[in-house]
Amino acid sequence: MKVRPIEAPDLDVWAAMRGRLWPDAAAADLVAEARAFVAGSADQILAAAFIAEDRAATPLGFVELAVRGFSDGCTSMPVPHVEGWYVEPTARGNGVGRRLLDAAEGWARAHGFSELASDTGVHNEDSLRAHQACGFEEVDRLIKFRKALS
Ligand SMILES: CC(C)(COP(=O)(O)OP(=O)(O)OC[C@H]1O[C@@H](n2cnc3c(N)ncnc32)[C@H](O)[C@@H]1OP(=O)(O)O)[C@@H](O)C(=O)NCCC(=O)NCCS
Repeated sequence: MKVRPIEAPDLDVWAAMRGRLWPDAAAADLVAEARAFVAGSADQILAAAFIAEDRAATPLGFVELAVRGFSDGCTSMPVPHVEGWYVEPTARGNGVGRRLLDAAEGWARAHGFSELASDTGVHNEDSLRAHQACGFEEVDRLIKFRKALS
């Protein structure tokens, strides 16, 4: 298995995996964000993205980072934040996710950062356990609200 930076030829497979991670998101938005990153657009929101693939170059998962101005519980600002961390269901439990996070951490260290932030839904126990196993400590829980403005 290999983990490497995502490049332009990975756009379609990356966008497809993003769609599986965020099935409720608009597919066009997921593709546009990915395209902006691989094109190096000035308005891109992602700072780094890595893909894992097996020996046959079959994609297994990805991790992507954005540098946020602030993240709850972190002491450094700005701070890199794991925006997406995904491994294909059939490939889970074999260390792919950890290898992806290692790449993300390596990128963060190489760019002078001292912390890595992440988040997950409060009901996503698998993600919580995986984050903890990979060295993340829980720092906060959040309730989100909305109010329709008519
Ligand atoms: C979270 C996810 C990326 C982990 O990928 P993975 O390849 O299965 O992770 P790994 O096999 O590298 O496991 C890394 C560590 O987490 C632990 N872990 C992974 N899934 C776990 C689970 N469901 N329960 C408990 N521990 C778990 C592993 O045991 C391992 O720790 P260890 O090395 O000490 O044994 C994957 O489960 C996934 O894509 N989930 C759906 C998407 C998601 O929720 N992403 C996170 C929020 S964006």
